[in-house]
Amino acid sequence: MAAATAYAQSGASVTLQADAPDHRAMEKLARARNCMTCHATDRTLLAPSYRDIAKRYAGQPGATDELTRSISDGSQGKWGKIPMPAGLQLAPGEANDLARWILGMMPGSRP
Ligand code: HEC
Repeated sequence: MAAATAYAQSGASVTLQADAPDHRAMEKLARARNCMTCHATDRTLLAPSYRDIAKRYAGQPGATDELTRSISDGSQGKWGKIPMPAGLQLAPGEANDLARWILGMMPGSRP
């Protein structure tokens, strides 16, 4: 409960978070789609953490579209030498939901 409140409060000043999808449902989806094999919320694994991604794109116009594209088509050369593969078998709309969820994770928030 306290964590959820902190999450909501820290997001209050971030416009991007206003329409961020429900955290628990999205975390479940990310697991189901194998995103969490390579990514963690606040640690760098094989791939950048979601918080680092949120931080890098915070306040950038078009960030949602750019991340939606990366999630559906894959990404390379933006973070390091390891590429993110395309073809993660997402249903329509899921890449956009995941992009908005990730952008809603500003550093310091503890969902
Ligand atoms: C096989 C490992 C792997 C899987 C599975 C994976 N990613 Fe990634 N992801 C990466 C790597 C590596 C990068 C960094 C790519 C780069 O440098 O451009 C990345 C980058 C990203 C980025 C940042 C892209 C950008 O434009 O800056 C987002 C957002 C992202 N991943 C979300 C997801 C989501 C959501 C899923 C599940 C649908 C997922 N990833 C599954 C490895 C993975």
